[in-house]
Amino acid sequence: MNLTADLFGNANLPTPATEGIKYAGSKLKILPYIIDLVSTLAVKTILDGFSGSTRVSQAFAKLGFNVVAADISVWSETLNKAYLLNTDNPKKYQKIIDHLNGSVGYEGWFSQHYGGAEKQLKRPFQLKNTMKLDAIRDEIDRMALTEIEKAVALTSLILALDSVDSTLGHFASYLADWSPRSYHDLQLKLPKLFINENDHEVWRGDIFDLIEKNKNRHFDLAYFDPPYGSNNEKMPPSRVRYNSYYHLWTTVILNDKPQVFGKVNRREDSRDEIAASVFEDFRQDGAGNFIAMQAIKRLIAATPARYILLSYGSGGRATKEELYDILNTEGKLIKAVEIDYKKNVMGNMRWTNEWITSDGKNTEYLFLMKKTNFN
Ligand SMILES: C[S@@+](CC[C@H](N)C(=O)[O-])C[C@H]1O[C@@H](n2cnc3c(N)ncnc32)[C@H](O)[C@@H]1O
Repeated sequence: MNLTADLFGNANLPTPATEGIKYAGSKLKILPYIIDLVSTLAVKTILDGFSGSTRVSQAFAKLGFNVVAADISVWSETLNKAYLLNTDNPKKYQKIIDHLNGSVGYEGWFSQHYGGAEKQLKRPFQLKNTMKLDAIRDEIDRMALTEIEKAVALTSLILALDSVDSTLGHFASYLADWSPRSYHDLQLKLPKLFINENDHEVWRGDIFDLIEKNKNRHFDLAYFDPPYGSNNEKMPPSRVRYNSYYHLWTTVILNDKPQVFGKVNRREDSRDEIAASVFEDFRQDGAGNFIAMQAIKRLIAATPARYILLSYGSGGRATKEELYDILNTEGKLIKAVEIDYKKNVMGNMRWTNEWITSDGKNTEYLFLMKKTNFN
C-alpha cells in the first residue's frame, strides 16, 4: 500500500473512497483525520461502536483492519452487512438490481404515507417514486435472497431513495417545496461494494449490551462516535435523535407497515420516550452530572480495547475540559485534534445551521486515549 505524509508528519494510510446516505453526524469529511490518528498505532482489530452511515467502518475495512461494525439501528446494520460481509465479485448482484428496476410501481403503504402528488407538498418523496418503492420493497421480500443479497438490495434501494428525496437530510420534517432531485426517477444502482478479505463482523444493539455480551472479546482500538447531546439548557433534549430522524429507513428495512403518528408520519416505536438513546439525554442525574457524559465515562470504562478514539462535537453536552477529565480517568490522553468543521467540513451542507451551537463554536474533536489496566 502506498503511504503518504500525514497531518502529524508520520507515514500515513490513504483515505479510501466510501459510499453512504446523507446522515447527520457522518464522519465522511473527518475520515482523513481519523485515519491519520489510527495509522500512527500498531492496531489490527477495530470496533466501530456507533457506525451510523458505515463510512468509517468501510474505510477501516478497505484499509485491511479487522472490523466489528456496530450500531443500534437496523438500517446501519443492513448497510454494514452489504459493505463489510461481501466476499464475492460485486457484479454478481447486478442481476438482482436489474430485476428490481423492472418492477412496475403501484400505490401501496409507502405511497399512502410518504408519497406526494405534484401539488401536495410536505412529503419526502414524489408519488411516482414511492409507487416504485412499494413495488420494489415487496418484490425484495418475495425473492429468495441470501442475507447478503438482501442487504445489497436494500442498500441499493436506500441509496436510490436518498438521491430523490425532498428533505434536509432527515425525516423529522419535510421541505415546503419539492427539491430538484425529487423529480428524478427512482433508479437502483449497484452499490460500490468491494471484496472483503478479512472476517469482519456486524453487530446491532445498544453498545453497552453488545460489550457485555461479548465480554471476552478484545480490540486493539475502539472508535466511538456517539450522538451529541445538547449543551444548551434551553434547547430540547438533543438536536439529532437518530430514531426519529431516520424512522423511514427503519421501515424500508423492516417493511412492517407500522402505526405512524404526527405530521411526518413517524413510526410509533420511534417516539422519544421509547427510542431515545442515553447518549442523546440532556438531563442531569441526582448528583448534578450530565447523563450523556456519564454514559461516555461508563462506556470507556467498559470497553475492552487498548486504544479508544472518541469523536465529539463542541455542540455536545461536554466541554473539552470535562472530556479531558473523563478520558484521563481510565487512561492517558495521547492526542486531541480540533477540527473547525464550519471551515473545513460542513461549509457547503444545507443543514449546517442545525449543527451550529448557540455559543458560536463549530468545532469537532477527536480524542485518542490509551487505556490503563488493559492487557
Ligand atoms: C454520530 S452518529 C455516528 C456516525 C458515524 N460515525 C458515521 O460516520 O456515519 C451516532 C450513531 O449512534 C447510534 N447510537 C445511538 N445510541 C446508541 C447506542 N446506545 N448504542 C449503539 N449505537 C447507538 C445511532 O444510531 C447513530 O447511528
